[in-house]
Amino acid sequence: MKHGDLVSKMTLEEKCALLAGKDVWHTREIPRLNIPAITLSDGPSGLRKQAGEGDHLGLNASTKATCIPSAATLACSWDATVSEAMGAVVGRDAVNQGVDVLLAPGLNTKRSSLCGRSFEYYSEDPYLSGKLAAGFIRGAQKQGVSACAKHYAANAQELLRMHSDSVMDERTLREMYLTNFEIAIKEGKPGFVMTAYNRVNGVYANESRHLLGDILRGEWGFDGAVVTDWGGSNSIVEGVREGMNLEMPAAGDDSPCQLVKAVKDGTIDEKIVDERVDQLLDFVLAARKSSGESSFDAAKQHQAAEAAAEKCLVLLKNDEHLLPLKKDARVAVIGEFAARSRYQGAGSSMVNAAQVDDTLPLLDEFFPARVGFAQGFERLDIANDALADEAVQLAKTADCAVVYLGLPECFETEGLDRTHMRLPENQIALMKKLRAVCKKMVVVLSCGSAVETDWAQDCDALLYAGLGGEAVARSVLRALVGEITPGGKLAETWYRHYADAPVSHYYPGTEATSEYREGLYVGYRYTESADVTPAFAFGHGLSYTTFRYDNVQADNAGVSFDVTNTGDCAGDEVAQLYIHKPNAEVFRPAKELKGFQRVHLEKGETKRVTIPFDGYTFRYFNVRTNRFEVEGGEYELLI
Ligand code: BGC
Repeated sequence: MKHGDLVSKMTLEEKCALLAGKDVWHTREIPRLNIPAITLSDGPSGLRKQAGEGDHLGLNASTKATCIPSAATLACSWDATVSEAMGAVVGRDAVNQGVDVLLAPGLNTKRSSLCGRSFEYYSEDPYLSGKLAAGFIRGAQKQGVSACAKHYAANAQELLRMHSDSVMDERTLREMYLTNFEIAIKEGKPGFVMTAYNRVNGVYANESRHLLGDILRGEWGFDGAVVTDWGGSNSIVEGVREGMNLEMPAAGDDSPCQLVKAVKDGTIDEKIVDERVDQLLDFVLAARKSSGESSFDAAKQHQAAEAAAEKCLVLLKNDEHLLPLKKDARVAVIGEFAARSRYQGAGSSMVNAAQVDDTLPLLDEFFPARVGFAQGFERLDIANDALADEAVQLAKTADCAVVYLGLPECFETEGLDRTHMRLPENQIALMKKLRAVCKKMVVVLSCGSAVETDWAQDCDALLYAGLGGEAVARSVLRALVGEITPGGKLAETWYRHYADAPVSHYYPGTEATSEYREGLYVGYRYTESADVTPAFAFGHGLSYTTFRYDNVQADNAGVSFDVTNTGDCAGDEVAQLYIHKPNAEVFRPAKELKGFQRVHLEKGETKRVTIPFDGYTFRYFNVRTNRFEVEGGEYELLI
């Protein structure tokens, strides 16, 4: 034990008390032994520190902080340096506000786009999620705050979230729902891991010997602390026995008393309690209590959020190169989301954003020759013909309509899954009316996860802004006029219709169990294997320029190739490596992502890109031998 001396001075009551929080956001101090309390705060999209009354649902006020792009949007950057920069932004806010543990990143695999927290998670692909989460963790921890990777594991639905049992075969668990955590934990080395509310194969994640003992601490060598999700402790005794170090938030003195009793009656060995205390003390004793970092600069925080938002824009459609528009274009700006930016999701990740950019005040700078603005529709799905007609009249007078659509806040929130994947009907109805009168139409779409896009046949260009954080409005305008070139790619499959996704048959689990019957066939792993054409594929994203790939070479270490910008402007390309195993004996999806690299290329520039192989490239989980193995033979590398 690292802190054996100190632990030996603590009474059993003190030790048990340390393993259960003091209130919503703090651990207990033990002044007699100079053990301080530490502060934990959300969350992934920015800091959510509550100075007043605390709650874990984002209901009470929190202090001002930088709102960065949500994880789902960050993932569209396909760039771990971008998530690292955002980890640093949130980490700086955390240190500046005296927070010791940042309850982020959330990195669950997106099993279904309908999960209410889809916007809080990176991707349907565990490799991409793991790499981006590792970047975020590195960025945050370099500032001096501990990151907390959550929610471990297989937490994919909000319905019945406190007790739903995620049931799946071991291979699906390992390949789809743990590989993301494995990468984030091994490469990011977060101080903390938060267990999920749900059960996994019959056992609460927080009490799972398999997840905590065998895999997290055993196979992956995690030596940090494990904290429950808020209110997610079912039994402090079982949790502590299997690896949990901190029950949050405080359940009064009840939990410590139960633990004391369990030690006294021999239900749990005091040595286990000592070990958990020792692991937690590492962070409690090292925690810094900063009252303000001298280098903290609020304006720079906002600029960093804007730079990231720019990297996350995905150009889904651009017929006849409609975009970029000229700055003197006579556009009609339409849509409620232009008036009030939609930039984050709701729940415990909701940030009291320091400085929100909205579109309308920026229009003089970007579209001085516009014909006007019309709201077009109500934010909630309420029909309003007057608003629609006003927009149609305005659109008639313009050369091009720029229409801001999106999901209303209540569609994307912790605690509530979406019931369908469509945009509100009032927006779809408006699109039809506009098409009848508009010469050209660009749609800017704000939402944190996939939506059905049948309506997109009515627009010429479609720019996906995701939930891009407090500065996204300016990033979008810069992209619309070509000051920047969109270079993001989708991190999630956008099915034409939700019913096309195998998971639609089993999601959400409405009874005690949620059965992952689709197995490995999540997102592109399914569409590529079953030859199903999605509306927009995983990895898709256009650019204002074009790229050529040449001179592909592979050796034992990886694959290298030249990428050339063959178009008229600078731009970013995201090179992606997938593997395919022809004649596989072990069944596997037709394509699996195994590496990626984002490169910036000036007009005419060529760069040589190398994507190395790693321990994840060829492996699959063999349920017979209970370990990852590589099937011998031939593989195809798809660039
Ligand atoms: C969420 C966590 C969050 C915690 C504290 C829970 O409801 O699931 O992600 O960190 O509350 O707010």
